[in-house]
Amino acid sequence: MPYFLSPKVLFGRGSLKRLGSEMEGKGRRAVLITDKTMVEFADRLVETVKNAGFTVKIWDGAEPDPSLEVALAGSRILLDFEPQWVIGFGGGSAIDTAKAAWVLYERPELAGKPILPKVELNLRQKARFLSVPTTSGTGADVTWVAVLTDTVKKQKQIFAHNDIVPDISVLDPEFTMGMPEELTASTGIDVLGHAVDGYTSKQQTDFSDGLCLQAMKMVFEWLPKACRDGNDLMAREKMQNAATIAGLGFGNSNTGLSHALAHSAGALFHVPHGRAVGIALPYSLEYISSNPPSPKAPDPIERLVIAAKFVGIDAGSNQDRTRKFIEKIRDLEREIGEPLSLKDAGITEKQMNEGMDTLVHLGSRDPNMFTTPCECKGESLRQLFRDMWKGI
Ligand SMILES: NC(=O)c1ccc[n+]([C@@H]2O[C@H](COP(=O)([O-])OP(=O)(O)OC[C@H]3O[C@@H](n4cnc5c(N)ncnc54)[C@H](O)[C@@H]3O)[C@@H](O)[C@H]2O)c1
Ligand SMILES: [Fe+2]
Repeated sequence: MPYFLSPKVLFGRGSLKRLGSEMEGKGRRAVLITDKTMVEFADRLVETVKNAGFTVKIWDGAEPDPSLEVALAGSRILLDFEPQWVIGFGGGSAIDTAKAAWVLYERPELAGKPILPKVELNLRQKARFLSVPTTSGTGADVTWVAVLTDTVKKQKQIFAHNDIVPDISVLDPEFTMGMPEELTASTGIDVLGHAVDGYTSKQQTDFSDGLCLQAMKMVFEWLPKACRDGNDLMAREKMQNAATIAGLGFGNSNTGLSHALAHSAGALFHVPHGRAVGIALPYSLEYISSNPPSPKAPDPIERLVIAAKFVGIDAGSNQDRTRKFIEKIRDLEREIGEPLSLKDAGITEKQMNEGMDTLVHLGSRDPNMFTTPCECKGESLRQLFRDMWKGI
């Protein structure tokens, strides 16, 4: 991808205070899209937007793993209120709901049609988009995609278009302080998945590389601290920055195998996205480092050796360092209490056996397979899901 996309990112403590001057004079109405948990924490944001001269409507209909139907419901609110700003406030689910609702507000005639890079979208005829993330995980605040679930086909449906990159992302760490430990852990491990997938992606570039490496280092250092003490504002701030840095990295190189596996397991079993990524990540790395890379793909071993060195693993052969890097990921997951297998995440053997064909079908069709640096299909994919269930 020979270009780099990014919104304007306001970051650090007190960043919300700087939002008013960004919005002033750019419209009179704003709609804030969030969910029923986060609406309770929206007051500071709503006040800021009101003080910038806006009437604010709040819609709290977003749900975890948002569906197309929910996004459509959000777009109807927007069509009714006609805002000049759409604000996504919450975790990746709320932000993705808001992004998709915004697309369907701008282009209602596209409802039900695939939103893919080649479609002429021309967003921003009606509104700009502001994201305010409250989990430190998905990077949805800066990426060009919105991940929805098609509840009929039981698969993730992706809106993917450069126009979908938000205009502004505000990273105010105070908004992440209320996350319980388990949510901090599962969303935080998603950041590592983004960084490692983005770094080993077939579409990595010099621009995405630095962001992905930095995000990895920050997760290893700060995620255990954020999990140990949720009131550690520095750890919250660092994880919030890491999530968006990884978002800018993988947003410009794309994720890969761990996400293809996680999307399938998430869609079928409703394992939270970050947790599914955390379970898939070590297996996906073992796979890409022991299979021949596709033509023109970066050599996964070379990449993982550089990543290992960057996070402090400095000794041994390339194979040793790769193994230690994967082990470091598992150690982190153990430390923060994340499950290492689908079995430990509560999926029964019966569920797994019954769902296996669907998992393989979904996994092989996931767009992340195109950016995975080596081929993975058929029996190899089936075996990966088996390993993910059973664990080491
Ligand atoms: N668009 C992208 O680039 C992208 C990338 C990766 C994942 N995703 C998608 O994002 C979704 C997952 O998002 P997520 O992991 O952020 O979780 P989430 O948005 O689903 O939130 C999980 C729960 O945490 C609650 N929550 C959020 N912030 C909180 C806070 N500060 N304190 C207490 N509770 C809080 C929410 O209300 C919700 O109940 C999935 O649908 C996934 O597919 C999108
Ligand atoms: Fe993710």
